[in-house]
Amino acid sequence: VVAFKVGLLGLGTVGTGTVQLLQDRAGRHSLMQELEIYRVGVRSLDKPRAVNLPDGILTTDLQAIVSDPEVEIVVEVLGGLEPARSLIMEAIAHHKHVVTANKAVIARYGNEIFDAANAAGVYVMLEAAVGGGIPVIQPLKQTLGVNRIHAITGIVNGTTNYILTRMQAEGSSFDDVLADAQKLGYAEADPTADVDGLDAGDKIAILASLAYGGRIKLPDVYCEGIRQVSQTDIAYAQKLGFTIKLLAIAQRETPSAPSASSAPSAPLLSVRVHPTLIPQSHPLASIHGVYNAILVEAEPLGQVMFFGPGAGAGATASAVVSDILNVAAVLKTGHLETESASLHPLLACTHQDY
Ligand code: NDP
Ligand code: HSE
Repeated sequence: VVAFKVGLLGLGTVGTGTVQLLQDRAGRHSLMQELEIYRVGVRSLDKPRAVNLPDGILTTDLQAIVSDPEVEIVVEVLGGLEPARSLIMEAIAHHKHVVTANKAVIARYGNEIFDAANAAGVYVMLEAAVGGGIPVIQPLKQTLGVNRIHAITGIVNGTTNYILTRMQAEGSSFDDVLADAQKLGYAEADPTADVDGLDAGDKIAILASLAYGGRIKLPDVYCEGIRQVSQTDIAYAQKLGFTIKLLAIAQRETPSAPSASSAPSAPLLSVRVHPTLIPQSHPLASIHGVYNAILVEAEPLGQVMFFGPGAGAGATASAVVSDILNVAAVLKTGHLETESASLHPLLACTHQDY
């Protein structure tokens, strides 16, 4: 059995879910038999862990993992900007393929990461970075690629959707529900990124970059979070037949008609995150709790909606392991292709190719 050696950076919510999924392989994809968790990098060796790992696998020397000649695929689930960004760059420099769930790093440093990956001929995979377990990155860059995307409207942050859902359904306080979201492993280590809309901002920047072909970064995104949403807002919204959702939107704007003397203006793209009143009949109004949904308006396809658990250990591990499998499939069949100027790597294999 060929074993693809995986170096895992991080053993928190997502890292633990990833190990659990890889240790429970019966009835799942056969290629999972060929994946081996070779090293796992953490901050503390003394912390109790929810998974059993063979002796000697756990280390605090993350640099040793990304430069280990045995490791072929590095999985970064540390979170935060540093040392995650530097370790991803080092892994690429050592010709490792990278799987990451880190939307903050991808949205802010995607340019340098994908340029380096293209130069090194390695993949950087990010299915878990947007929508947790929902397969949205692959469909957006492959199946929907033939469409002209008019708008992407999403609930892409599980923590804030969970908070807004419980505030509206039960009248619970913001602070109490945030504490629950943290206990359930939905929130970021610093939940400011969730509640202030920055996590959703990073995610819509990634989706917009894929859909529209540019490189949109967080500073290009207008971000407003949910701290200001009060029970008074909720009561008025409900009375008027609306629900309040934190929406992430990327939308082509029609430029104003050119005057006789001016040159035609380029199409505009508006990318933003803010609490929004939506009618209770809207497809996104019924997305509750930690669930995410991404509504894509595409031409000629029409409307398509991706829906599923947007955070949590098992759901996110599903996306991480699918990325690892896709890379392993490419390594196994020998078809390694690189793509020059795109945010995302091109997957040479489909499920049928495994
Ligand atoms: P956690 O905070 O639960 O886990 C982080 C892990 O990384 C811990 O094992 C920690 O070590 C380790 N770590 C962090 N910093 C360092 C460092 N400087 N050196 C060594 N080890 C370090 O994070 P999550 O698992 O929740 O999230 C990981 C990533 O996945 C983030 O980018 C997040 O945005 C993304 N994500 C999370 C989802 C979720 O539902 N939680 C869903 C989708 C994406 P130790 O255990 O020793 O403290
Ligand atoms: N903190 C993020 C959320 C994790 O709540 O959506 C998933 O990316």
